Amino acid sequence: MKLMVIGSGGREHAIIKKLNENKTVEKIYALPGNGGMMDDAQCVPIKATDLECIVRFAAENSIDYAVVAPDDPLVLGLVDLLEEKGIPCFGPNKAAAIIEGSKVFSKELMKKYRIPTASYETFDDMQKALAYLETAKIPTVIKADGLALGKGVIIAQTRDEAKAAVKEMMEDKKFGKSGEHVVIEEFLTGPEVSVLSFTDGKTVVPMISSMDHKRAGDGDTGLNTGGMGTVAPNPYYTDAVAERCMNEIFLPTVNAMKAEGRTFKGCLYFGLMLTPDGPKVIEYNCRFGDPETQVVLPLLKTDLLTVMQAVTQERLSQIDVEFSDKSACCLIMASKGYPVAYEKGFELTVPQELRSRVYIAGAAQKDGKLVTSGGRVLGITSVEETLREAVDASYAAAKEICFENAYYRNDIGAKALKALEE
Ligand code: AMP
Ligand code: GLY
Repeated sequence: MKLMVIGSGGREHAIIKKLNENKTVEKIYALPGNGGMMDDAQCVPIKATDLECIVRFAAENSIDYAVVAPDDPLVLGLVDLLEEKGIPCFGPNKAAAIIEGSKVFSKELMKKYRIPTASYETFDDMQKALAYLETAKIPTVIKADGLALGKGVIIAQTRDEAKAAVKEMMEDKKFGKSGEHVVIEEFLTGPEVSVLSFTDGKTVVPMISSMDHKRAGDGDTGLNTGGMGTVAPNPYYTDAVAERCMNEIFLPTVNAMKAEGRTFKGCLYFGLMLTPDGPKVIEYNCRFGDPETQVVLPLLKTDLLTVMQAVTQERLSQIDVEFSDKSACCLIMASKGYPVAYEKGFELTVPQELRSRVYIAGAAQKDGKLVTSGGRVLGITSVEETLREAVDASYAAAKEICFENAYYRNDIGAKALKALEE
């Protein structure tokens, strides 16, 4: 089979490596991929949002199956266009991808179907939003409606901060059209858990739980990033919590989408907070998380392509999806200064013996050498019997990988290890 994976980051590299384990896969094209994936896929320089070009490429190259990984092409409707051409895909169509594409939509869905989430108000008029903030409980959370590269969420500790955030989004249009509508919601507390799931619109199969580390600095300080590391499983996600989530959140969400005529097929990501009042939804994503995928897929024992095709063909209930009972840690190595300003173009060397578990996010080929080309450069995943061993193995491996200005957090997994001791 000839496959095509849309996207270019560490998540896509992990998906590609896993798909390559299937013996029927002859070739994988990555559009656009990145220079660090060349051993695993053929990179084709077509942007993930250039829908027309992607569809043409797929038709001309007789692609048998496509995996659309990033949010933007999903929200723009790439899956609909590929399916029109008869190319089977993994990923939701445009109508279903709105669950991530619009926070106003997802909040209204949860309200209508009584799915637990932070209470909220939505606004398209700035004066009304500002008036509401005069009496809103502080801290409060301001979210831009549309996609904003994970940066459209402000936790405001004071009333003035909250007002400034609303003005930035609605008046200064910091996030463009994404900020024309805003959601102002209740500030929740509790451990966060990421649960990625496979769903064919009827059956939902949660993958192993994980924990992201979103802030740039140790001790969860500094700016929000795309994710500085992950561990799986998440120790806060006990069997009892999992059962509640299935009954109160996962199944109700999949059923709600179906009832709305927006059947969701693909990977539905539940960003959860385990509050004192029970698990609540912080956000939905219509795709695999990054860097959650880099710990979840290495623990998947069942063949990934088989599961994906079962999703596409709506027969997920007929297969068993198994995960290893080991633990995984993914440590992200970034360029110093990320997520604000950083230099690129530094030579990058990854020892041969680490290549099977290093997922490259931002690298390019230059004069036959690999050089850094992004803020997040790569992730190193270790799978071991215990979380302690997995964390230690990833930190040991980081010492073997060299590039100038490399930066990583020193405490990935620390919170999870502490929770395991309690
Ligand atoms: P999101 O992009 O919606 O995942 O939000 C980014 C981060 O902001 C989340 O991972 C949480 O840590 C935090 N966050 C979002 N919404 C809330 C909320 N209602 N209460 C507390 N923290 C939140
Ligand atoms: N790691 C969070 C995300 O993929 O959105």
